[in-house]
Amino acid sequence: MKKDTINKGYKSVSNIYDDYILSEKPLFKIIAKIIWGFTDKEYSIKLLENIPDDFSGKILDIPAGTGILTYEKYLRIKNAEIICMDYSKDMLDIAKERFGNYNINNIECKQGDVGNIPFENETFDVVLSMNGFHAFPDKEKAFSEINRVLKNNGLFVGCFYIKGKVRRTDWFIKNIFVKNGTFTPQFYDENEITEKFKTVYKETKIWNKGSIICFRCKK
Ligand SMILES: C[S@@+](CC[C@H](N)C(=O)[O-])C[C@H]1O[C@@H](n2cnc3c(N)ncnc32)[C@H](O)[C@@H]1O
Repeated sequence: MKKDTINKGYKSVSNIYDDYILSEKPLFKIIAKIIWGFTDKEYSIKLLENIPDDFSGKILDIPAGTGILTYEKYLRIKNAEIICMDYSKDMLDIAKERFGNYNINNIECKQGDVGNIPFENETFDVVLSMNGFHAFPDKEKAFSEINRVLKNNGLFVGCFYIKGKVRRTDWFIKNIFVKNGTFTPQFYDENEITEKFKTVYKETKIWNKGSIICFRCKK
């Protein structure tokens, strides 16, 4: 049921998602500044630097969304084998078309659920999860599935919304994004997520920009 709501939510925003994320057009720029205080590009470029451009292993990008924040990085990491997975066919179709337009051939797009990742244990050198955990319905299952498919010494890199940092942002999440199905409670706060990562991963680096927590964890 929750998954249907989330799917409908992303279906309804898929056609404006890229404009919203890029926040280049004046209206979207104002919206991003009011809700978040910054644009997604402002933290995602630094976050993606945690995957070197000469990286040559296997990457799982979940949820891949439309690929709007990652395609420029993927154009540079030509030797990696990349699986882009998302539950929403509408979001993934946009990603597929984008990667095709840029002739990025080392990516396979697969529809799938983070709560039941269709890969063997310890398959990936890197799992990238940008802006997914605030959408995922069963966050504990998502953490355990990601950890299962990650190799020992592999990297879990990502970012998502945390509650309790910026009251204005918390208000918008609760009153707009939860209602339209693009965000799904319960949300973590900074302490909860820091503790969680420290107990599961042998190395953790965590930083935040406003209500977005960014991380690089080594299994
Ligand atoms: C905010 S978007 C993030 C997409 C992309 N990583 C980005 O940063 O632009 C959240 C995505 O999570 C996906 N999603 C939600 N629940 C999911 C699940 N159970 N398994 C896989 N993807 C899911 C949605 O379809 C949506 O594309």
